[in-house]
Amino acid sequence: MARNPIFLNNPEKFNTPYTISKTKLESAIGVVLDKLEKMAIDHPNEMPSGSAGFKYIFTNETGGWIVGMYAGCHWLAYELTGKKIFRETGERLMLAFKEKIDHKIDVDHHDLGFLYIPSCVAPYKATGNELGREIGLAAANYLYEKSFSKEGKFIIRSIKSWHGSGCRTMMDSMMNVPLLFWAGKETGNEELTEAAIAHCKTTDELLLRADSSTYHHYQFDPETCNPVGGLTLQGHSNESCWSRGHAWGVYGFPIAYTYVKEEFAKKAHRDLTYFMLNHLPEDNVPAWDYDFTSTKAVKDSSAGVISVCGLNEMAKHLPDADPDKALFNNAAAMILDSTIDTCTGDNGIDYDGFLFHVTGYASAKRPERRHIDQTAVYGDYFYFESLLRLYNPNFRMYW
Ligand code: GLY
Repeated sequence: MARNPIFLNNPEKFNTPYTISKTKLESAIGVVLDKLEKMAIDHPNEMPSGSAGFKYIFTNETGGWIVGMYAGCHWLAYELTGKKIFRETGERLMLAFKEKIDHKIDVDHHDLGFLYIPSCVAPYKATGNELGREIGLAAANYLYEKSFSKEGKFIIRSIKSWHGSGCRTMMDSMMNVPLLFWAGKETGNEELTEAAIAHCKTTDELLLRADSSTYHHYQFDPETCNPVGGLTLQGHSNESCWSRGHAWGVYGFPIAYTYVKEEFAKKAHRDLTYFMLNHLPEDNVPAWDYDFTSTKAVKDSSAGVISVCGLNEMAKHLPDADPDKALFNNAAAMILDSTIDTCTGDNGIDYDGFLFHVTGYASAKRPERRHIDQTAVYGDYFYFESLLRLYNPNFRMYW
């Protein structure tokens, strides 16, 4: 869909230089490291797969889409501290993901990027772990073979997932597609890179609306693969903009740009970012859906920290003369600073995880899975990554 030009409603706000002090970042990172180490000691072979009443439910199984990000927290922590406990925990958890792909246990779905990048590509990038590389490549090839539609040119949302739906794609897969980009680069297999570019272009053309908001899902005709229309699963309505889905694009397009430097990815990221910045509440922590802009609306702090990572990544690629460079860096610092102040620390509850005000599924379409104003591993991972990005200008991403 052709997009209209988009402008910031409040350019002065984001053009005002903004930074977070090193001491504040160090203190926030210290809290994360302490909590992570405690989880590694208490649950050496397990990962949090969900939560109940702010307490994580630990499992040694690798189902769902989130557990790889817990393993990824250990690699972020290991790279920062060099502490053995984080490396050993990460190495142990990696073996569960090997088992999963070796025996094809619940891998017929789109979420292999979320699972395999932080659990297996991360150890390869962090320590040169060859087994991590091998497992990551096996997962990438499987994603391509089973879940990439050559006709439609998109990663298919698993028909097994939740409500079933057949021939669909979704914003979330902007974070699964980096597995194809990485494997394509690693092996020189251009088919994987071409598939990854094709998925990003399909997302750009169909899931981004004229006003630079995003559909969460997009339906295709199962017979012809022709586009049918956008809709939502986790957002407020089919025409609203679910903030975490949008955030997967705010980070996913810069990742695509790092691999292939295509202008469409840079433009998509900019337009999505401007839409997000125009819809942030006063306190800069997103509501769960951008239909809501009051600070009193239910929040999804995970959407904020995912976006911080995307802003920081794209800013690295822009020349100093590009006004968006400073703007993206200021906005990233503003969102993260407010997140530290309002979504971490003492909330009167003894919570597991690093970050509260994370909303999994507030949509009326998913009453069976409501998970509102909680903590969750994907919030933890991207909070930790965003802290490290702003702390260390030489941060290297796993995606
Ligand atoms: N990938 C699913 C979600 O973001 O909730």
